[in-house]
Amino acid sequence: MDKNLLIEKAKDAMKNAYVKYSNFRVGAALITKSGKVFTGCNVENSSYGATICAERVAFTKAISEGEREFEAIAIVGSSGDFTYPCGICRQFMSEFGLDLKLIFENGREIKTYTLGELLPEAFVSIP
Ligand code: THU
Repeated sequence: MDKNLLIEKAKDAMKNAYVKYSNFRVGAALITKSGKVFTGCNVENSSYGATICAERVAFTKAISEGEREFEAIAIVGSSGDFTYPCGICRQFMSEFGLDLKLIFENGREIKTYTLGELLPEAFVSIP
């Protein structure tokens, strides 16, 4: 898996962000263990609470296409700094494994964590 390629795909997806309320763009590119890439961007809503984050868009696109095994997700935002996933997205992604790699880029530097590092002591109901 080429980290730079995944970051580029996340940046492309970020262009489609629908950010009428925050003007904060986020893009994500999720790669499955079999090598398929699904992208996502944030989609905001006037009710605010109905907003969907880029990470969950990428995941739901993949899951609804039958995918269940994920290797890595690249996440970029328009702030010029690293964009880390919100708590809901961390919990959402944890459903599919804490070994997922999360790749971040701020325009200068790349950082990689596992989801387990970003969500220690994750809630699990069925082990
Ligand atoms: N956002 C994401 O897309 N992913 C995150 O993990 C953090 C927040 C979006 C939601 C909203 O559209 C905007 O960023 C500002 O919160």
